[in-house]
Amino acid sequence: IKKIGILTAGGDCPGLNPVIRSVVRTAILKYGLEVVGFNHGYKGLYHNDVTELTLDSVSGILPIGGTMLYSSNKDNLFDYTVEENGKMVQKDVSDVGVENMKKNGIDAMVIIGGDGTLTSGRDFARKGVKVVGVPKTIDNDLSCTDYTFGFDTAVSVACEAADRLHSTALSHSRIMVLEVMGRYAGWIALAAGISGGADAILIPEIPYDIQKVADSLKERASRGKNFAVVVVAEGAKSVSGELHVSKVIEGSPDPIRLGGIGNKIAEELESLVGLEARSTILGHIQRGGSPTAHDRILSTRYGAAAVELLMQGKFGMMVTLKGDDMGYASLEDVIGKNKAVDPSGELVSIAKGIGISFGD
Ligand code: F6P
Repeated sequence: IKKIGILTAGGDCPGLNPVIRSVVRTAILKYGLEVVGFNHGYKGLYHNDVTELTLDSVSGILPIGGTMLYSSNKDNLFDYTVEENGKMVQKDVSDVGVENMKKNGIDAMVIIGGDGTLTSGRDFARKGVKVVGVPKTIDNDLSCTDYTFGFDTAVSVACEAADRLHSTALSHSRIMVLEVMGRYAGWIALAAGISGGADAILIPEIPYDIQKVADSLKERASRGKNFAVVVVAEGAKSVSGELHVSKVIEGSPDPIRLGGIGNKIAEELESLVGLEARSTILGHIQRGGSPTAHDRILSTRYGAAAVELLMQGKFGMMVTLKGDDMGYASLEDVIGKNKAVDPSGELVSIAKGIGISFGD
């Protein structure tokens, strides 16, 4: 391997720049490789929007949020929207991507992304492209790895928000509901709720009964604590099974946009508990900005490990973290098996043991 390409796709995530920096520096300094990046994820691969990556071009990016290579969300070259005879049609244009890799003399690709991005990574690997994946998502829901980079930063931001909501909750005797991201997994809510001292945590893996949440807050009020902080995951579901969908985008590969459940929970708790309630939807603040020191280290480890895998000829793999060890897993095993919070796992049990309600 003499030359490698990198792309970042899907939603951005704190730690993308540290991964890019680590790949580039390891590739150049340790192995004397050349490195290029495709801008705007798979869209850039299709349009051959390529940029040379040097020690100089990655200098100073370690603490910076976002991705210097830009991203494009939900672009899948195996099912891509192109114009043909004046009409927009869906087509497999992955050969154009492979052709562009060849044009640039690229021997192997480092693909940094979550489930959608890595699904395409696996599909390119199936076509014979030498691919290594790096697990990116604030949601921490990728299987085969204990932690994805970006999760720690998202949790830190959400924890700080919960801390800030505590003081205003106390001053006004209110219930403050904090809605956090995480898609169909409750990792961010669980970690932010425990670290931020929440009184209730609602996650998709444990369907909640709002009456039970209200009862726990009433019991708390009867002990003189007439304020509360409730952390709710955007994908949380009630026992009746409803998921709060903020928008459906017809024809999109990912048609459901989550968000907004916090408002509903606040309204319901206000009437059931009899305390005023307000909600805060933290949204993309969890994704933007500088990565934590922990995420910078994890991203640097992932980037270096990705180059090592390529140099060892282990293609079609994703780098992983198990315990404190870097490892790898086949993309075939990673895709389509999202990692959920275990409702009877240690963290949930501890949280319940210290009196946090999950509404179950
Ligand atoms: O997967 C990361 C994530 O931030 C989710 O937590 C959230 O549901 C989704 O992306 C939001 O995506 P978008 O960038 O399309 O708003």
